[in-house]
Amino acid sequence: MIPVVRTKKALARLVTRWRENRLSIGFVPTMGALHAGHAALVRRAAAENDRVLVSLFVNPLQFGPHEDYNRYPRALPADHRLAAAAGAAAVYAPSAEEMYPKGFHTHVEVEGLSDLYCGKYRPGHFRGVATVVLKLFNQVHPDRAYFGEKDWQQVRILEDMIRDLDVNVTLVRVGIVREKDGLALSSRNASLSPAERRAAPALRRALEAGRREAQRPHARARTIAAAVRRALSGTSLKAQYAAVWKGRLLAAATLGRTRLIDNLPI
Ligand code: PAF
Repeated sequence: MIPVVRTKKALARLVTRWRENRLSIGFVPTMGALHAGHAALVRRAAAENDRVLVSLFVNPLQFGPHEDYNRYPRALPADHRLAAAAGAAAVYAPSAEEMYPKGFHTHVEVEGLSDLYCGKYRPGHFRGVATVVLKLFNQVHPDRAYFGEKDWQQVRILEDMIRDLDVNVTLVRVGIVREKDGLALSSRNASLSPAERRAAPALRRALEAGRREAQRPHARARTIAAAVRRALSGTSLKAQYAAVWKGRLLAAATLGRTRLIDNLPI
């Protein structure tokens, strides 16, 4: 089985050994509870690099005080197996104390983009994401880092962070992996009750309704977003936002206590 590294020191030893052997490093940062979407990231990284490192870290900094940090699924043994089967060479699973020792007080803020859409509903979320991802980049020194397009806003924010802070890593976007019924894979799907799980694909269908609206001659961003909201209004999903942004139609909705996001190219 591949090693599980728990400290920055042990990680540095591993990465130094790889670097000394001139091996390229692909990095897949995750919060664990891995699924087939993560496996696709790891397989792509394994195809493009000599070694792949997967991090498993539920990052407290990106959860608001009333969010699901404590409920977020944690499944180290299964994650370890999935990462290895998909082609990872090691797993990095630091504790919160290892990542944020006492006295930690520096953050990364990608201004503007972080306050839109998901950021509006999750204040501080993208600051937490950008901070942990930059820390992970500094610990791992990857050549390439792999992120899923389901988190489109996250991807765009991290691309700007990499550009603005001259981070020496190539971000690779990997397409959304879906269930047969269209639901985008997400670790949070595990929190859905059977009835919620049956209702959840309505988010993707609503985005498709928006895309159909976009094909009409007089469609505007506003009418496209309205079509998404209309499609959601007859379902058990509660729309948070729908928007056309940077080549994508994005939406977020809550289903019981679970928040779902999805997007389509437009
Ligand atoms: O997309 C995620 O799982 C997280 O936001 C990330 C990038 C691993 C940072 O905690």
